[in-house]
Amino acid sequence: MIKISPSILSADILKLEEEIKLLDENGADYIHIDIMDGHYVPNITFGPNIVKSIRKITNKTLDVHLMIQPVKPYIEEFIKAGSDIISFHPEADNNSEEIINIINEANIKAGIAIHPKVEITAIENLLHKVQQIIIMTVIPGFGGQQFMQSQVKKIKYLDKIRKNHNYNYEIGVDGGVNIENAKICKNSGADVLAVGSYLLSKSHNEYSKIINSLK
Ligand code: DX5
Ligand code: ZN
Repeated sequence: MIKISPSILSADILKLEEEIKLLDENGADYIHIDIMDGHYVPNITFGPNIVKSIRKITNKTLDVHLMIQPVKPYIEEFIKAGSDIISFHPEADNNSEEIINIINEANIKAGIAIHPKVEITAIENLLHKVQQIIIMTVIPGFGGQQFMQSQVKKIKYLDKIRKNHNYNYEIGVDGGVNIENAKICKNSGADVLAVGSYLLSKSHNEYSKIINSLK
């Protein structure tokens, strides 16, 4: 079954504790935390302190998605904060291999996130080193955008490469996921769906039903 990683980007920040506990109790597998710096993306969200606070209230896998540039100077802080998976955009830093090594040496899963404008061939040298690859199906920066169907071929391609080479990364999909495209992602080989506005715009008593319907 596919894993659901609700993105707290669209949560009411003043009710974050309540939201996370509800997501935890209602079947979320991971908690997706979008870190934006106003530089790699034109939006600013959270820093490592949020990860640290969330770590105290849930045992779910903290799936930290860094949309920051550069990446390396901040990795240590996100490790210390209690992340379980740290994904970054390789074009945002010249030290991708070193960053992956630092994350893995801390016994944390390392991931790379693929911007819609980045082709898989540009990061093929990293595929054997990572434990997660996030295919972005929106331009990173904001929740509530429309799913880019054009990126689905990357999911299929990564699934094929994984089978051919016996790689063991999880394939995540992030951006505009809803009930219509969740099945397409799943059938294309995705293992994890980050879901923001589609889930968090609903009332709390629907969380369980919606999370299950996406799986
Ligand atoms: C976009 C973020 C996504 C986003 C998902 O830059 O990385 O995680 O919050 O939200 P929806 O599901 O609303 O696209
Ligand atoms: Zn994200």
